[in-house]
Amino acid sequence: MDQISRVDPEIAQLIAAETKRQGAVLRMIPSENYASPAVLAATGSVLANKYSEGYPFARYYQGQPYIDKVEALAISRAKDLFGAEYANVQPYSGSPANMAVYFAVLQPGDKVMGMDLAAGGHLTHGSKVSFSGRFYQVAQYGLNRETGLLDYDRMREIAKEYQPKLIFAGASSYPRAIDFAIMGEVAREVGAYLVTDISHISGLCLSGDHPHPLPHADLVTTTTHKMLRGPRGGLILCRKDLGPSIDKAVFPGLQGGPHNNTTAAIAVALKEAATPEFADYCHQVVKNAGALAQGLLERGFKLVTGGTDNHLVLIDCQPLDCSGKDLAGALEKAGIVANANKIPFDPRPAQDPSGVRLGTPALTTRGMQEEDMVEIAEFIGQVARGWQDQAVLDKVFGAVGELCRRYPL
Ligand SMILES: Cc1ncc(COP(=O)(O)O)c(C=O)c1O
Repeated sequence: MDQISRVDPEIAQLIAAETKRQGAVLRMIPSENYASPAVLAATGSVLANKYSEGYPFARYYQGQPYIDKVEALAISRAKDLFGAEYANVQPYSGSPANMAVYFAVLQPGDKVMGMDLAAGGHLTHGSKVSFSGRFYQVAQYGLNRETGLLDYDRMREIAKEYQPKLIFAGASSYPRAIDFAIMGEVAREVGAYLVTDISHISGLCLSGDHPHPLPHADLVTTTTHKMLRGPRGGLILCRKDLGPSIDKAVFPGLQGGPHNNTTAAIAVALKEAATPEFADYCHQVVKNAGALAQGLLERGFKLVTGGTDNHLVLIDCQPLDCSGKDLAGALEKAGIVANANKIPFDPRPAQDPSGVRLGTPALTTRGMQEEDMVEIAEFIGQVARGWQDQAVLDKVFGAVGELCRRYPL
């Protein structure tokens, strides 16, 4: 920070302010976390200075004795950790990782299936506003209207009728476990590749708190900056026979030189994720989400699917006198940062939906436990009741600050 201050005080001040903000509020966006100091240091290292188009020991530029070792280490750690035959650690982030999968195994115009964005899927799983819905033919599957759970029977029917070449499993906003085994069966029945995007739940798949996608999936993608607590990046795991196509799709298909500083930070994060402490962390993420859900239910909130199996809960604001956007805005004024989100079969538009999505990965990294989640559920209850009352928001803001001070970064 001293170095930045000397050269660019404006940026240094903004980084300092953001550092303070991250410590002073409850960060409950389920896809966010705190990377460790070691991960941040690797991200800011001199590895950012090097160009290394290609792959370890097969580069287009000279001067790679250390970079090759860094990337080889990241690859072998990724394979070992997830039990995969092949890994590519170069995708710049989660969306480019998914794009590389399409590029590797499909031709433009081929048929794919993915979970509907409105049901909790991700943009890159076939939404019309992303490359995936523009360059491929897409059929989307979704949830049972009564239960809010994934409707696997309907998904199988759609797959049989539509005959996709690739099926995406995985979600950005689904509070329950995903049955990768059933989805693998469906994919095999119709001769499709199964791609599991475990960006949100990668940690839980490692700790055993969520079923592992292998051996059901042909390909697995994940971001590295969510529950894995790495740098902003992505990785792809796959069967060995698909490896060369994936490598070609990432480079030279879609990307240029890898971000070697990020690759090193991914390697560090994977080393951290292989420890028993990381498994304990993931167990606690799930326990905390369960305690938060229970605390909210006891305070009269309606939750999508009635609770959670994983790291997130989705509040259905329809019984409240505010929208998801109103509640998320009021929560931020009270020091609780979440995001407004669509609920299944939401009658409201995406810009002002009926839900608020809350997650526990970042709070758990700070060391918070079940009793803290109950306190937070109480804060959220007070904010929901007094969302237009500045005095209520100020009071909760003070209490949030006190809780945050108990768990310094
Ligand atoms: C399931 C899923 N896949 C992919 C992504 C995309 O990741 P990125 O924002 O790094 O492109 C996200 C991001 O939230 C996600 O939730």
